Amino acid sequence: MKALVIHGPNLNMLGKREPDVYGSKTLEQVDKETVALGKELGLDVECVQLNGEGEIATRIQKSDFDVLIINPAAYTHTSITIRDAIAAIGKPAVEVHISNIHKREEYRRRSFISEVAVGQISGFGTDGYLLAVRAAAGLLAK
Ligand code: DQA
Repeated sequence: MKALVIHGPNLNMLGKREPDVYGSKTLEQVDKETVALGKELGLDVECVQLNGEGEIATRIQKSDFDVLIINPAAYTHTSITIRDAIAAIGKPAVEVHISNIHKREEYRRRSFISEVAVGQISGFGTDGYLLAVRAAAGLLAK
């Protein structure tokens, strides 16, 4: 079984970008831990970071995975394109946010992704990706 992890725009800056909000780990470190946990749970995990909205939709449309873990970053709050791509493939999706989006600016509280995701993990720092891998493994075991 395969999980695809998509990190949206600016998450390539992890570790350097607003460390008080997003932590000090780099994306490479986070991906390493995510892949390792997947392996433990019998999940093949591929991680990709994309800055473009269309690129994210195109990658989702490939549909070469059993479960999607996605942090759409700022597109969470604006992208019907990504929402529709997830709805189109009909596979379970877990939405991840490093920060607690409900505790920040008003405009971050709305997610277009939540209505097509099984659930949202938000506010647990980069450990959220590990929680998402566990959630994904649980969904596939059902
Ligand atoms: C984010 C929250 C978004 O509001 C923000 O635009 C991001 C990252 C998070 O992981 O907390 O880029 O998705």
